[in-house]
Amino acid sequence: MVENERIAVQFNHVQKEFADQMVLTDLNLTIPADEIFVLVGPSGSGKTTTLKMINRLEDPSAGEITYFGRPVADYPLQELRWSIGYVLQHIALFPNMTVAENIAVIPEMKKMTKTKIQSRTTELLAAVDLPAAEYAQRYPHELSGGEAQRVGIVRALAADPGMILMDEPFSALDPLSRKQLQELILRLQAKLHKTIVFVTHDMHEALKVGDRIAVMHNGVIHQVGTPADIQQHPATSFIADFFAGAEVGHVVWADTLTQVLASGVLPQTTQAPTTQITAHTSVAAISPRLGNGETLAVKNSLDGHTYQLDAAGLLKYIVAVHTSSDSEGVH
Ligand SMILES: Nc1ncnc2c1ncn2[C@@H]1O[C@H](COP(=O)(O)OP(=O)(O)OP(=O)(O)O)[C@@H](O)[C@H]1O
Ligand SMILES: [Mg+2]
Repeated sequence: MVENERIAVQFNHVQKEFADQMVLTDLNLTIPADEIFVLVGPSGSGKTTTLKMINRLEDPSAGEITYFGRPVADYPLQELRWSIGYVLQHIALFPNMTVAENIAVIPEMKKMTKTKIQSRTTELLAAVDLPAAEYAQRYPHELSGGEAQRVGIVRALAADPGMILMDEPFSALDPLSRKQLQELILRLQAKLHKTIVFVTHDMHEALKVGDRIAVMHNGVIHQVGTPADIQQHPATSFIADFFAGAEVGHVVWADTLTQVLASGVLPQTTQAPTTQITAHTSVAAISPRLGNGETLAVKNSLDGHTYQLDAAGLLKYIVAVHTSSDSEGVH
C-alpha cells in the first residue's frame, strides 16, 4: 500500500463470537479511503458481521476497529452512524413518504437547510438517472426494484457521509438491472470518490466494482488485492476455485431461464410452450437442444407471456448481461 494513502478503517485482531460460535477469530484488515473496497465470500463467511462492526450495529468480542484513526467505540454513536451511509439488499424506504422525503430524513436530522437538501436531492437523483421532476414526488410502491435501490443509494449519499457501507446492494435484482447498477456505481464513484465498503458473494461483481478486494471464507481473510492481483495470483486454492466459478461461461451455465427471460432480450411468440421446459430450468440443461438448432418456447409465469429462445437468443442474453460495456472480450 502506498504510504501516504489515507486509511478509512482498520481492524486490529478483531474477534467476534455469537453465543458459542466463534465467527471471526483474528480479523486484520486495512480499508483505504476514497475507493471501493469489496468484501467477497460465500454465504456465512462473516461479511455482514464485519460490516456491522464498522458502524457499531455489532461490537467486537475482542480487538479494535478504528474509523479515520479513532476507535469506533470512542465516537458518539449518533455521530458515527450519521457519518456512515448504509445500503442494504432490500432498501427499507418509508412507504408513506415520497422519494424526496425519504432522502431528506438524515439531512434534516443533521440540520441541513431546506434549500441545500433540495438542491442536493435534485443533483443526486439526476446522477442516478432518476430525474427529480419525474421521481421526487413518487411513493416507494411506484418504483421498480432497481429504482428503489437507486433511491437507497441517494439516501445514503444525501447527508454527505464520510463512508458508505453496502451489503449485497444489487443481489435481489434481475441480471440486467444488476449490471446497470454496477455500472452506475462506477460512474458515480468516478465523480464522488467516496470510501465505499461493498459486500457481495458474487466474485464477478467483486471484480467488476472493486478497486481492491478482500476474499473471505469461514471468518478468515484469504487475500487482499486489486482485481488483477487476485485474478492473476490467487493466494489459496479456495480463491482459485471461487474465481473459476466467476468466469463468464460458468456464470451463464448456472443461470436459470427465469433470469434469461427477465433480461428482456427474447422476442415473444404465440407458439405453445415447449413441454417440460419451465422457467426454473438452467441454461446448462437446455443448451444441448439449442446447440442442435432447436427453437424453444418458454412460458414466463411472471408475466404470462411465452418467449422464443434459440441459440442466437442465448448469445444475446450473454452479451447483454455477462459482458461489461468496457470489456475487451471474454475474461
Ligand atoms: N446475531 C447473530 N447471532 C448468532 N449468530 C450469528 C448472528 N449473526 C450472524 N451469525 C452467524 O455468523 C456467521 C457469519 O454470518 P454473516 O451474516 O456475517 O455472514 P455473511 O458472510 O454476511 O453471509 P451471507 O452471504 O449469507 O449474507 C454465520 O454462521 C451466522 O450464522
Ligand atoms: Mg450477509
